[in-house]
Amino acid sequence: MSQKITAAITAVGGYVPEDRLTNFDLEKMVETNDEWIRTRTGISERRILKGEGLATSDMVVPAVRELCAKRGIDPSEIDAMIVGTVTPDMMFPSTANLACHKLGAKNAWGFDLLAACSGFLYSLTTGAALVESGRYKKVVVVGADKMSSIVNYNDRATCIIFGDGAGAVLLEPSTDGMGIQDSILRSDGSGGNYLHMKGGGSLRPASAETVANNEHYAYQEGQAVFKFAVKGMADVSAELLERNNLTGNDISWLVPHQANKRIIDATADRMGLSHDKVMLNIQRYGNTTAATIPLCLWEWEKQLNKGENIVLAAFGGGFTWGATLVKWAY
Ligand code: UT7
Repeated sequence: MSQKITAAITAVGGYVPEDRLTNFDLEKMVETNDEWIRTRTGISERRILKGEGLATSDMVVPAVRELCAKRGIDPSEIDAMIVGTVTPDMMFPSTANLACHKLGAKNAWGFDLLAACSGFLYSLTTGAALVESGRYKKVVVVGADKMSSIVNYNDRATCIIFGDGAGAVLLEPSTDGMGIQDSILRSDGSGGNYLHMKGGGSLRPASAETVANNEHYAYQEGQAVFKFAVKGMADVSAELLERNNLTGNDISWLVPHQANKRIIDATADRMGLSHDKVMLNIQRYGNTTAATIPLCLWEWEKQLNKGENIVLAAFGGGFTWGATLVKWAY
């Protein structure tokens, strides 16, 4: 009898740019203050990718290189790459294609996946299915966003939140049941009104008018998104535990999308998890959209142990949201 194949995470890589944008810097740019930002969001600073000619793929490349070095593989061994992003280098070709070229991943096919802040979870679930099929042995799943390229630094409602970064994991087949166990993914396009970027797509192609109207910037109605996010992320995480006959006691870590510390706390409370089991780096990186979850895994990698249950959870533009249960493989 053939053994069931699961998709195990076998290495993690990450990259954050060197340049920091602190709350005190923002105080000089818009009417805000450090205390408001920290108490309302938990953020103190974010990283910004600066430099002519640098784009999202330039953060993907070092993250994937690190992952390959840790696993002792050459990029040419990668079978497929999925990049969750809302800030691709360009509309096409995909950031995955461009990054594979820069990496020398010449045997990989790949594509970008657009699910905003849930981009990494959607990509992880998709990548896991490729591995579980038995056809692919090394699938790289990336969450990467250069949010500074679509943030209006005159809009205090959005510019205080977002930052740039990239995180990546390698998925490989496991026959001892490690890796991705279960995912619940949801979407509701009626939420598009509250969080979107209107310009640059087929609805509103770039024109002098779309530029003048600031349509190429991320637009967010924060309070409305906040309400849906608290309920969406907490509900789906609790449902995932229930469906797998687990309680908060069985979970070693919650790895939440880092959008707002208050949303994260509400999710942990709903799962019955103490806050010291929650990965939190929002204070240093802000909201890096698709990159938040893999960047947490990257930072906490050394503290994770084989066999531990961890729950990844996200909510974002679309609306898209979901939760994934992972058994750590090393
Ligand atoms: O990652 C994708 C999904 N996104 C999210 O999950 C984000 C969800 N939303 C949020 O995290 C929060 O809504 C924000 C952090 C964006 C905003 O926090 P809030 O507590 O919802 O603030 P608010 O928009 O209700 O504004 C409260 C007050 C307002 O003033 P008044 O009307 O009470 O006088 C705002 O004008 O705070 C004011 N305000 C600010 N004050 C200082 C709004 N932005 C700022 C600011 N600095 N940057």
